[in-house]
Amino acid sequence: MDFTNKVALVTGAAVGIGRATAILLAQNGAKLVLVDINSEKLEALKAELAEYGDKILTFVCDVSNEQCVYEVAEESLKAFGKIDILVNNAALWRSKSSFLNTPTEEWKKYIDINVMGTVYFTKAVLPSMLEHSWGRVINVASVAGVYGNANMAHYSATKGAVIAFTKALAKEVTDKGVLVNSVSPGSVSPSDNYDIDHTQESTLSFMGRTGSDRENANLIYFLASDAASYISGQNIQIDGCRKKQ
Ligand SMILES: NC(=O)c1ccc[n+]([C@@H]2O[C@H](COP(=O)([O-])OP(=O)(O)OC[C@H]3O[C@@H](n4cnc5c(N)ncnc54)[C@H](O)[C@@H]3O)[C@@H](O)[C@H]2O)c1
Repeated sequence: MDFTNKVALVTGAAVGIGRATAILLAQNGAKLVLVDINSEKLEALKAELAEYGDKILTFVCDVSNEQCVYEVAEESLKAFGKIDILVNNAALWRSKSSFLNTPTEEWKKYIDINVMGTVYFTKAVLPSMLEHSWGRVINVASVAGVYGNANMAHYSATKGAVIAFTKALAKEVTDKGVLVNSVSPGSVSPSDNYDIDHTQESTLSFMGRTGSDRENANLIYFLASDAASYISGQNIQIDGCRKKQ
């Protein structure tokens, strides 16, 4: 798939699925805007992609900071003239606690980053897509948003919201050339593993293993491409045939 002349913005790009997506898009000609709060890991990725040089911009920005999100979009549009592809991947997901033991502040933090971060970036970037009558918004959700994970009610609720947002927005903009989908990974190999092909045993899928970062990135990259021209408003699970919890 050829992404020459396409500009893609990936949030939470420094590690894991975001990093693997950035690598695949860069290798296939895309100009990239990479966003993360982890400046050290973001710089490491920029160094890793050094051969693509001035086709890559990086921004340290918290997706829940609306003003920062608009500044990133503005600077990116100034540099590249448009943004064609938005991958809303940044999220919090690691904390586990029973519903009654999850403080309200934790709920708000998850909603601010996982839901509002997705909303802010989509709002900031969508006008450029509509202007060019071509766009792809790919929201990274989770099987937790489909089935609900015990002791992760706060996380599950945010990913359910992301899936519903995806389906609703698609109905507003698909006829204008902007296709909106979400992907819902099951268990993914540890995102701090440098090897994007790494998998490990897992009892949560009938495949008996986790998915690699590259496998997840492959789906995102396909949905971002011209080849996915008849897919919009979908949530696509990528979970090795999940054993529903
Ligand atoms: N790893 C899994 O098992 C799994 C399963 C289902 C869904 N997901 C989803 O996949 C996506 C990526 O997860 P992952 O495990 O590959 O990576 P991860 O969770 O380890 O890292 C996500 C990246 O997002 C960045 N980030 C976090 N908060 C941010 C913020 N406020 N602003 C900007 N950047 C921020 C982090 O610094 C990190 O680089 C997330 O949306 C996650 O919910 C992951």
